[in-house]
Amino acid sequence: MDYAAAYAAWQADPEAFWAAAAEGITWERRWDRVFDPASGAFGRWFPGAALNTCANCLDRHVAAGRGEQAALIWDSPLAGQTVRFTYRALRDRTARVAGALARLGVARGDMVVIYMPMVPEAVIAMLACARLGAVHSVVFGGFAAPELAKRIEHARPRAVVSASCGLEPGRVIAYKPMLDAAIALSAHKPEACLILQREAVRAALVPGRDHDFAEAEAAAAPHAPVPIAATDPLYVLYTSGTTGQPKGVVRDAGGHAVALHNSMRMIYGVGAGDVFWAASDVGWVVGHSYIVYAPLLAGCTSILYEGKPVGTPDAGAFWRVCAAHGVRVLFAAPTALRAIKQQDPEGARIAAHDLSRFEALYLAGERCDPPTAIWAAEKLGRPVVDHWWQTETGWPITAGFRAYGLFPPKPGSGGGPCPGDDVQALDDAGTVLPRGGNGHLAIRLPLPPGAAPTLWEDDAGYRAAYLVDFPGWYRTGDGGVIDADGDVWVMGRTDDVINVAGHRLSTGAIEEVLASHADVAECAVVGAHDALKGQVPLGFFVLKAGVARPGAAIADELVALVRARIGPIAAFRTALPVPRLPKTRSGKILRGSLRRLADGQDPAPPPTIDDPAALAEVATVVRQHGA
Ligand code: COA
Ligand code: AMP
Repeated sequence: MDYAAAYAAWQADPEAFWAAAAEGITWERRWDRVFDPASGAFGRWFPGAALNTCANCLDRHVAAGRGEQAALIWDSPLAGQTVRFTYRALRDRTARVAGALARLGVARGDMVVIYMPMVPEAVIAMLACARLGAVHSVVFGGFAAPELAKRIEHARPRAVVSASCGLEPGRVIAYKPMLDAAIALSAHKPEACLILQREAVRAALVPGRDHDFAEAEAAAAPHAPVPIAATDPLYVLYTSGTTGQPKGVVRDAGGHAVALHNSMRMIYGVGAGDVFWAASDVGWVVGHSYIVYAPLLAGCTSILYEGKPVGTPDAGAFWRVCAAHGVRVLFAAPTALRAIKQQDPEGARIAAHDLSRFEALYLAGERCDPPTAIWAAEKLGRPVVDHWWQTETGWPITAGFRAYGLFPPKPGSGGGPCPGDDVQALDDAGTVLPRGGNGHLAIRLPLPPGAAPTLWEDDAGYRAAYLVDFPGWYRTGDGGVIDADGDVWVMGRTDDVINVAGHRLSTGAIEEVLASHADVAECAVVGAHDALKGQVPLGFFVLKAGVARPGAAIADELVALVRARIGPIAAFRTALPVPRLPKTRSGKILRGSLRRLADGQDPAPPPTIDDPAALAEVATVVRQHGA
């Protein structure tokens, strides 16, 4: 079937499309209805059905005779180790860790926060929660203690799984002190912590609360999978919204399993026995979906890589991993490709490896600039597919589809809408724009299986964030164009979310940190274009009247404060003192104008501006800084 026919088949009968896809999952109980439009914010998928996602990822492959196939290969240039786990071994370890969590009191429906580096035990902990019917919430290791504390306080976990340390090039990051600090900051205290002791740094355990991961695993009996309702949550993943409070994106178990399993063949063209690598981190949605759940649901071998695209040890790292493990499809962030291209522009390190088994490169996390996509396609001699999605959707909204022959998309475009998504560009009033019109990208409701049905304990917040602006539509927060061929060009966020090296951050969260400084009267943070990271945050601040200390000293303190409160991944390096911020007559900061200034443009004052001189003053500061 070609893409147009497949898309038309979905449009003609969405429920039949998803019912057929659902046959790829092993159900404990089949659904009463494929879709119930009357429940939830836009309807619910597979009500009445029951399943266990961990059993679908592990046990059923062992039962089908794939027990000796590799399920997970941990390749860590930072630890100097490569470890291969068969499906049987991964199932057995996961079952025991589930037993260990159960002994700590974790049961179906309980929340578990996972704060771990890229070690196999992170994947095992996620799957162990799924096995128990518990809800996991993974927090990316690059977040500092106060960000972890926010998530612990909101999620209220019964237990936390963490590790003594993570490894970054040239330094060891002690995770446990950050966990201890986060628990101290949080009003909610977990009853138990399961701590993986890594060799590089061992952690002190708090008696009565902390338990050694290895000892607890060894002492536990394997736990059987606990079926849960398809509409029950599998996990919550906090992501940056427009305010300092992250949004707890909920993933329901049934639709997620169906959509992710289906996506592996439909989009990436891989199935059981194929080696698939998502070079992301388990702390992000790409890691959840395409390091852990989708490849294992499909019976693939998934690579878990603890390293960087460059510097561990060089810009050939990705190609070494692909060659060593026979990767067929690689999924990476454009920023990683830019880092590689910068250090190996001729692609000499690509040519040095045997990539005969390598078939395609998929990119997401930010728009891939066409020169990078073209460079990669040329040097690799393979299709490069940019595809667009978000934490909320859980799997791609648009893509190139290996199963249907639409492949690869034009450089700069994110490809065609996935069967399951009716994507349109809307004007400010919510009217569908004709092809070629630049507007708000929105998905017609209902969202497909796998997309977030709500935010954790915040149905009202979900509706407010995504559904109220354009009734009948899901507002993606991205702006863009749909061209004459129906391909979607995502041009960037229309809100205060920025993407720094493939990491989603909120300028609002950074502003909260700047505003907390005793000498800062007001501030604004915008995303500035960066050749490597796509965007980096740039801060502007106004000192309180009477502050005699120089702005530069306070700027240094602000940079340190953001690193301590949000984490190093914010890559916040520049805060500029300005006499005042440009505002509208109603007092709103003109962030759009600041954004353009940050990108080196010279924006004309908008008609709503209160005092054009304020914009000119900031422009002078930016020019002086750049000079
Ligand atoms: N734990 C603790 N610290 C972490 C961390 C983690 N898990 N991950 C990153 N950091 C730190 C880094 O050590 C660095 O600290 P520094 O400021 O002291 O140097 C900082 O956070 C920024 O890290 P990073 O974003 O990795 O930037 P970089 O300049 O070191 O490397 C790239 C640039 C492009 C190589 C890197 O950003 C990269 O590989 N990006 C791809 C990200 C990705 O795959 N995202 C997928 C999402 S889909
Ligand atoms: P996250 O939720 O961290 O996956 O970030 C989602 C956001 O990243 C989207 O809303 C987009 O702004 C951006 N994004 C992800 N993939 C792409 C892509 N292929 N093209 C353009 N933007 C993208």
